Amino acid sequence: MGKKRVLSGVQPTGNLHLGNYLGAIRNWVAGQSEYENFFCVVDLHAITVPHNPESLAEDTYTIAALYLACGIDLAHATIFVQSHVSAHSELAWLLNCVTPLNWLQDMIQFKEKAVKQGENVSTGLLDYPVLMAADILLYQADKVPVGEDQKQHLELTRDIAARFNHQFGKKKEPVLKLPEPLIRGEGARVMSLTDGTKKMSKSDPSELSRINLLDSPDTIAKKIKRCKTDLPKGLVFDDPERPECHNLLTIYMLVSGKTKEEVAAECADMGWGQFKPVLTEATIAALQPIQEKYHALMQEPGYLEGVLRQGREKASAIANETLTKVKVALGYSLPV
Ligand code: TRP
Repeated sequence: MGKKRVLSGVQPTGNLHLGNYLGAIRNWVAGQSEYENFFCVVDLHAITVPHNPESLAEDTYTIAALYLACGIDLAHATIFVQSHVSAHSELAWLLNCVTPLNWLQDMIQFKEKAVKQGENVSTGLLDYPVLMAADILLYQADKVPVGEDQKQHLELTRDIAARFNHQFGKKKEPVLKLPEPLIRGEGARVMSLTDGTKKMSKSDPSELSRINLLDSPDTIAKKIKRCKTDLPKGLVFDDPERPECHNLLTIYMLVSGKTKEEVAAECADMGWGQFKPVLTEATIAALQPIQEKYHALMQEPGYLEGVLRQGREKASAIANETLTKVKVALGYSLPV
């Protein structure tokens, strides 16, 4: 039996931060040999909100290089850029026409982002989950690693696939595979440094709220020095009154590779003044090998281009096969 296929993607908006790494990419790396993996940089999603054309290409390369720097292994994974495989846009259009409008209007993330955009909400923002469905369904992915915030989009992907199969598939032969969520291990939810109840996020206006994977040691030290803490003596996990404390201990646990019990014992009698330098040092040490690998890759742009060219070829072959199946099911004449 072949390996199950995994697909995931990250948007090239801003830098990857510790939350992306500890909550997602690190787990992709840890499980990569069990699966046949496809990791894309979803640059078509990046323009659903206002974006900067000056930096889009560079940001896209940065994410691809960071995939490699974080340990994604080309023996197990294909890395590619979404816009390089035109089937993504094309399938999104076809799926648009089987997706009821109200399914999209009900998406939590759309409603949240739309509020922030006011009058300027694009049709693309509403359509974002259909493009994401296309990303996943094109590869007939078995599993999609998702965090809490993307669960609804994966559900929608399943609903779209089921509806398509029901309307256009033959009974015994579904055209599109329904993907399952790949739920990640406990303790991987990294929260903002300035508010322990909010997820660490690229879109938080405050740089102090997150540690980016490419932050210098000085910047990391400064951000940890200024992060939100509290007054009680001793540091503990799981106190609902102390979300920042729980978050910082969790980050320490993840970057140090220690167990929760070890960290709990080590920090039980610490104050913030003692803990912060320890956390700073462990964070810098965890990011150093990633940063070194990233900078080495950036010295060799030809290498990264080659990786993405090969990725595009491999991804296109699979994606185009699914696209053709979908078109045939819809009744299209294929070009001869
Ligand atoms: N919406 C995802 C996010 O913001 C990114 C994404 C786009 C994605 N296409 C995908 C994730 C396909 C998994 C699979 O995190």
